[in-house]
Order: sequence, then structure tokens, then C-alpha cells
Amino acid sequence: MEIHIAMNDQKWVSLAADQVEVQLRKNPASALSFATGATTLPLFDELISRHEDGRIDFSQATCFQLDEYRELGSEHPASCAHTLINRFYNCINIRKENCHFLDGLCSNLEDFCRDYDSLIQDGGGLDLQILGIGLNGHIGFNQPGTPFNSPTHPAKVEDFTWHKNTRFFNNPADNPRDALTMGIATIMSAKKIILMANGGGKKDILCKALFGPVIEDVPSSVLQKHPNVLVILDQSLSKLCSS
Ligand code: F6R
Repeated sequence: MEIHIAMNDQKWVSLAADQVEVQLRKNPASALSFATGATTLPLFDELISRHEDGRIDFSQATCFQLDEYRELGSEHPASCAHTLINRFYNCINIRKENCHFLDGLCSNLEDFCRDYDSLIQDGGGLDLQILGIGLNGHIGFNQPGTPFNSPTHPAKVEDFTWHKNTRFFNNPADNPRDALTMGIATIMSAKKIILMANGGGKKDILCKALFGPVIEDVPSSVLQKHPNVLVILDQSLSKLCSS
């Protein structure tokens, strides 16, 4: 596992964008997957800007959604799909038919999740997975206790994360308790994984995830077992594990 500490916010974002750019230059038809949330929004902006400058071409790329709330359609502003579509996909030249979504409104979840994993693997697997990390160590919607061998599956949004996400909903009652997520096994099948984090508040959990025991109670600790992980942190996280 390689850990890069960026000197400033701009560098932090550009280190991650460089990885996407390099990947698409190497293989323009790469399969990519991006976390949503506060962490990746500046990355989307940087990738859009590089696309507008002619540096990155997404026309042959494929994107797979990492996670989604259940009961929310893509038109709901708090859905992950809404962010991906409106803050990223609509601003680059990715083809609509190459953007794959987890259907939060789907009724046949078991079949849907199985087919989603097959779609990823039949296409050759994920080339690059970009992750954020939750304060309890979650990746995607894989909360503490999720088995490391889990495929894409319906997941509960446990209390800690639910309360944190309430800020995205005008009415807390609209905040779903259920989600769909790529499983930990699906994430770990990616050829390369980038974990991005910024803000001093994530110091403790990053310390556990990157240097602590690999345990299902800290889902992101599984990344220690992946052969090709790049961790990109901002300067506020430079003294990880100190005091
Ligand atoms: C969302 C996702 C989540 C976030 C995590 C961090 O698609 O995968 O695991 O990465 O909750 O969220 P932020 O970036 O808002 O701190």
C-alpha cells in the first residue's frame, strides 16, 4: 500500500486526477467506479476541467456506481446517482449507456445484485475504484461487520452513518435506512484502488484502517490486503497515528 500526503488541497485533488488520467491514457476503455460524498466532489471538478482542456477523454470509459440509497430514484437530490449524473457524468463525454447504476427502486434485489456483479466481471472487471472513507471505517455502504467476501448486496445504513447523512435531507424521515452497495469482494476485485481522505477528523479511523488489524469491524482495513492500493491524503492527515 502506497500512501501519498499532498502539500495542499489542489495537489491532493490533482494527485487523484492524475491517476484517472493515466488510467484512461493506458486504456481508454477502462471500467471506473467513483464514490460520491464530499471527498470526491473536488475530484469530479478537476476531472471535468481536464476533460474541457482536452486532457481526458471518457468516450470509451465505463462507470459503475459504488453505492446507492434504496427508495430513492436518481431524480432525488440526495441520491448518489443524482450527484454522479449532475456533478460529473453530464459534464464529461462519457456515454450514457456506459454508466451503470445501482437501482435503489428495484424490487428483485437478489437478481439485480447478482447481475450487477456479473456485468462488472463479464466486462473484464473494474480497472480503477476510487473510494472515500466514513468515520466508522465504511467503504461504499459496507458498514462495520460486513463480511469481507460480500458481493454487491442490500445493506442497512447503520445509525451512525444515518445520523451523519441526515444533513442531506430536508425531512429526516426521508433519509433511507436501506441501501445497495458493491460488496467488499466486488471492491477488492478492482485492479487498482485509490482511497482518498481529507480533513483532520478522519485521522483516527485512517490510522485503524491503514495500520490496525484487518478486521470486519473496520471494513476499510481490508484494503491492506489488496496488492495495488494508493492512499491519497491531504496535509491535515500528515501526522497520522501521532498522539
Ligand atoms: C459514497 C461512499 C461513502 C463515502 C464516505 C465518506 O458513495 O462510498 O463510503 O465515501 O461516507 O463520505 P464523505 O466523502 O462525504 O466524507
